[in-house]
Amino acid sequence: MIKFKTTSAEMTEHFGEALGRRLAAGDVIALDGDLGAGKTCLTRGLAAGLGATSFVSSPTFTIVNEYEGGRFMMFHFDTYRLEDEDDFINAGLDEYFDRGGVCVIEWSEVIKGILPKGTIHFRITGTGDERFFEAGQDDDGDDDRDSMSERIAEAVREAGIETL
Ligand SMILES: Nc1ncnc2c1ncn2[C@@H]1O[C@H](COP(=O)(O)OP(=O)(O)O)[C@@H](O)[C@H]1O
Ligand SMILES: [Mg+2]
Repeated sequence: MIKFKTTSAEMTEHFGEALGRRLAAGDVIALDGDLGAGKTCLTRGLAAGLGATSFVSSPTFTIVNEYEGGRFMMFHFDTYRLEDEDDFINAGLDEYFDRGGVCVIEWSEVIKGILPKGTIHFRITGTGDERFFEAGQDDDGDDDRDSMSERIAEAVREAGIETL
């Protein structure tokens, strides 16, 4: 578990961008935290780090937005309006996990039962301009893969953020 704090939206986005440069095809990133926590802000950084060019906005009404133009496709979900995993599966959305892109899921708690092994989790809390991040990865049982904790730690350093 890695903990760090940002003190502006720009700082959160910078971190996201640094992490985005380190993402690999098939990575799944689960974001949880209240409305206004900074989930979309972080996602905007991830997209920039992947090299996607279009502006990232919340997909609340469409559930998923697709971003091209980067090293990989980025699929950005917001499951706020879904009831549970069944809603997600019945809409065929679980197929996105196998499309070789990067999946970023806001309100991932709604579908926690079907998140793939190795999913990277961020929990965001805080008020004002302060945001506290707790990051960790579900065990994916694959030792060959670059440990995500390592990549997150590198991104935190590169963004000039101190860990807590
Ligand atoms: N340290 C910070 N990190 C991220 N966002 C911040 C921070 N401080 C203030 N903010 C503000 O909080 C809001 C986060 O919005 P957004 O990313 O859309 O949240 P969410 O997607 O979690 O609902 C933005 O208005 C942003 O400017
Ligand atoms: Mg959002």
